[in-house]
Amino acid sequence: MASLIIRGGRIIDPGQNMDRIGDVVITDGKIVSAGLNHDFGGDSDVIDARGMIVCPGFIDLHAHLRDPGYENKETIVTGTRAAARGGFTTVCCMPNTNPPIDDELQLDYVKTVALKEGLVRVLPIACVTKGEKGEVLTDFARLAHAGAVAFSDDGRPVMKSSIMRAALEAARWAGVPVIDHCEDLSLTEKGYMNEGEISHRLHIGGAPAAAEDIMVARDLSLAELTGSHIHIAHVSTEGSVDLVRRAKARGVKVTAEATPHHLTMTEEKVLTFGTTAKVNPPLRTRSDVQAVVRGLREGVIDAVATDHAPHTKEDKTTDFAHAAFGISGFETALGSLMGLVHSGTLGLGRLIAAMTCGPARILRKPDLGNLKPGSNGDVVLIDIDREWVVDVSKFASKGKNSPLEGTRLKGKVMVTVFGGKVVYQDDIIIARGKEAAGVANKPSLI
Ligand code: DOR
Repeated sequence: MASLIIRGGRIIDPGQNMDRIGDVVITDGKIVSAGLNHDFGGDSDVIDARGMIVCPGFIDLHAHLRDPGYENKETIVTGTRAAARGGFTTVCCMPNTNPPIDDELQLDYVKTVALKEGLVRVLPIACVTKGEKGEVLTDFARLAHAGAVAFSDDGRPVMKSSIMRAALEAARWAGVPVIDHCEDLSLTEKGYMNEGEISHRLHIGGAPAAAEDIMVARDLSLAELTGSHIHIAHVSTEGSVDLVRRAKARGVKVTAEATPHHLTMTEEKVLTFGTTAKVNPPLRTRSDVQAVVRGLREGVIDAVATDHAPHTKEDKTTDFAHAAFGISGFETALGSLMGLVHSGTLGLGRLIAAMTCGPARILRKPDLGNLKPGSNGDVVLIDIDREWVVDVSKFASKGKNSPLEGTRLKGKVMVTVFGGKVVYQDDIIIARGKEAAGVANKPSLI
C-alpha cells in the first residue's frame, strides 16, 4: 500500500472543526487519518510539515480553462498546472469554450482530456442554454447524468426571466445548482469598468453596480419561486451582498462566491494597471470591497472562487473598450487573500473554509474539501509567513494577465498533494503522464 505521511503540521480542516498539530496519513489516494501522531511507516514517503499549515486541497468553483477552442489562452494541461501551483486540487471549469460545453460530446471531451492530461481534478460545468445564446435550454438531466456539476452561461447572463425560471426548475430536478452571472446587459452594453468618478475621469464607459444588483434580485426571486438552488457568481457589489444576506435569512436556497480580486482590489487598479485590471464584473469601490469581505467573514458569501480568466498579451494590449475581460487568478489567490488574514480582517479558518468545505457543500461532494478518513487524499501545505513577489513569467498558466505583477505577498502554497501524490512543491511542478518520465514522482523529504 502506497502511503504518504504529512508530518507535524498545524492541520486546519474547517469541515470537521479541526485545528491541531498532527500528521495526515494518505494511503492509496485516500485520507486514512488526520490529527493523530503516527510512527514512521517503513517505506512510506514523509513530508516534514512542521511550521506549516496543512489543510484540504482547495476547490475552485469558477475557472476558465479555455479548452477546447482557445488553447492560445490556456489548455487543460497548463490550467491544471497553474491550479496545482495555487493549491487547488479540484477545479470547476466554465463552459464558454469554442464550441461551448452544451452537449454530451463536448462534456466528454473535457472529462477525457482532464483525466488523461490534467494535473488535478476537473469538474465540468455545462451551459444553461445552447451556445450560451440565452434562448434554448440544454438537456440538464442528460448533462448532469454525464458529469456536469452545475450549469452556467458564465461570461453572459441569462437575460430572459422565463428561461432562467425554466433553468432553475431543470437544475432542481437534476440535483445541481445554476451558477449565475448576474449582469443586466441593457445597462452594461458600453460598460468596461465600474461606473463612477474614475470611469468618468478616464472617459471609459461604465458598468453600474445596479446592473448586477438588478439581476441578483431577479434571480433570487426566481430561486424562491422554484425552490431551486441558485449560486451567485463573482459577487462584487454591496447591494448584492445585502440581497443575498436577506434572501438567506428568509430561507431561499442561495449560495454565493467572491473572487480574490473583488475581495482585495478597488477600481483604482485601473489607473495603474489599465486593461490588466479590466474584469467582469468590474473592480468596484472601497465600500463594495468592504461589504464583500464582510459578507465572506459572516458566511453570506460561502466560497472563494478565482474566476481564473487567462488571456493572451494581444487580447489585453489594445484600447480599454476592446481589451478582453479577465484576470489570471489561480496562482495568486491564496497569497493575495492572506493579506486579509495578516491584517486581522479575516480569520485564517474562515478563509480556508471558503476554499475547501464551503465549495464542497455547494457541489454536494462530501468526499472533497475535508480530511476525514475515506475522503480524497487532496492536501495543501501553506507557509503563511513566506514572502514572495508575483512574477507572471513564472506562472504555469498561459495567462500572464495579473494586476498583481511585481506585488510582494505574504503567504505561499508550498506543496500540493492530489490523490496522495505530490503534484507541486515550491515552484516545481511534478509532471504526470509521459512528461513525468525521468521526473521523480515520489516527493523528496522537505
Ligand atoms: O472577467 C471575466 N472573464 N468575466 C467573465 O464573466 C468571463 C471571463 C472570461 O471568460 O474571460
